[in-house]
Amino acid sequence: MSYKQTVIRNVDKINKALPEESVLKEIGLWITQGRTVALPTETVYGLGASAVCTEAVRAIFEAKNRPPDNPLIAHIAERAQLDTLGVTWTKNMEQLMDAFWPGPLTLIFPLTEETPLSPLVTAGLSTVAVRIPEHEVAREVLKYAGVPVAAPSANRSGSPSPTTAEHVYNDLHGKIDAVIDGGPCGYGVESTVVDCTAEICWILRPGGVTKEQIEQVLGPGTVRYSQSAPAEEAPAAPGMKYRHYSPATSLYLMKGPEEIWQRKLQDLQQDGKKVAVLAVEENKTAWTQADAFLSLGSRRAPEETAAKLYAVLRELDTMEVDAAFCEVFSKEGIGTALMNRLEKAASSEQ
Ligand code: TXA
Ligand code: MG
Repeated sequence: MSYKQTVIRNVDKINKALPEESVLKEIGLWITQGRTVALPTETVYGLGASAVCTEAVRAIFEAKNRPPDNPLIAHIAERAQLDTLGVTWTKNMEQLMDAFWPGPLTLIFPLTEETPLSPLVTAGLSTVAVRIPEHEVAREVLKYAGVPVAAPSANRSGSPSPTTAEHVYNDLHGKIDAVIDGGPCGYGVESTVVDCTAEICWILRPGGVTKEQIEQVLGPGTVRYSQSAPAEEAPAAPGMKYRHYSPATSLYLMKGPEEIWQRKLQDLQQDGKKVAVLAVEENKTAWTQADAFLSLGSRRAPEETAAKLYAVLRELDTMEVDAAFCEVFSKEGIGTALMNRLEKAASSEQ
């Protein structure tokens, strides 16, 4: 793969004026022309390229070193653009679009033969995942691009998703054409991926929109997590089979009583090992013996924990520790997405 001079465009003017129109227009055109551009969304940074250009989509897979059987999400600026994708949808999907678009909800759409999308986007499946992001910068770029934009998270495959432009640059510089720096992402975990094409509404990947919120729209008992159903019953997101979001440091989830983990900490330290603890601020005093403490925010604000999680996992890898213990969270609301990512990040041998 040839070296690319990765340009950084700073539009971080949060809470102030709109980012400079001319910058976003230029970057939008780059996408139309087939280049690869990382852009901020409300969930994580995405690596965008024209979804109707096979060469551009191939460049995404190459830059990330992503397995070709893992399909991408097509991002659009507004609902009217659905008519150009060659997709169909159900009443349930329409209700979810009304309630959650723009925002961190990705819906699976059946494809028709008329679709202009590159087959690489869908990894050859007969469906495509689509979302309209809420982030102002992302939507402006999508508007100027004028084409659907395929955008996976802008990290190297297997490493934690990027929630700042710096994370993207560290992972992908030299491999992509540009990064738009729009400041840190608000949610910090990816969108919820939902398959509502049949009677049951399946959550293929928990994320920014919670099961509880979806049930408020579709009714109680209508929504299920595909991971907790037998494989032959539930559809799945191809990407969920991969071990994702992994820090290089061995990560252990502190399930069970705290005393056990205090003892494990002592044992490891007696063997000359260094251990970091990732926990909420309220538990900091319980872990003064640890070699490092990384705060996951307050126990009372799981949204804050979600927003920090990937940055903390990346920070962990810059520390000179042999292992890390991480607090567990209750699987309610955003906690489900949080635990899903932590379980994938954790070392497999536990
Ligand atoms: O928040 C997000 O969704 C971010 C931002 C950039 O929009 N994007 C993101 O994309 O997380 P990615 O590629 O990292 O994850 C997309 C997930 C994968 O698990 C993939 O397998 C699944 O969506 N997916 C994509 N197309 C699908 C399809 N047709 N059927 C089932 N799952 C699909
Ligand atoms: Mg990803």
